[in-house]
Amino acid sequence: MALYTDTVMDHFMHPRNVGEIENASGVGEVGNAKCGDIMKMYLDVDPETKVIKDVKFETFGCGSAIASTSIATEMIKGKTIDEALKLTNKEVVDALGGLPAFKLHCSVLAEESIKAAVKDYYDKNNIPYDPKDFPEAEEGEEVPMV
Ligand code: FES
Repeated sequence: MALYTDTVMDHFMHPRNVGEIENASGVGEVGNAKCGDIMKMYLDVDPETKVIKDVKFETFGCGSAIASTSIATEMIKGKTIDEALKLTNKEVVDALGGLPAFKLHCSVLAEESIKAAVKDYYDKNNIPYDPKDFPEAEEGEEVPMV
């Protein structure tokens, strides 16, 4: 069996929603301490409905991080910001048809960058939230994986 699924290769070769949103409602940037890869997420949220109208990402990341985040943006576009917060890296990996075990951590960048952008949106709009929804990895700590 090939190391990467056709879906992973498709999203790696043709990533969706790459770019920047000017004056985004929420922006999140996260990095993986181990590999040094960085992911930046932009959300454009309808203030009335809280629906994510547009989403874009920029990355200095590996192919698996690009594929994970590309498919994750498709999964949250059109959803509410609260629904986007619930997206897990396991759901992202499942949608990709799987990732090799040594690449699972790359999908965490997708989940965490979305969470960071949602948190930024909540902060900017003084929306209360449960801090437990935004666990911060300690310096040097392993990023949680599925
Ligand atoms: Fe760093 Fe994939 S190797 S996110």
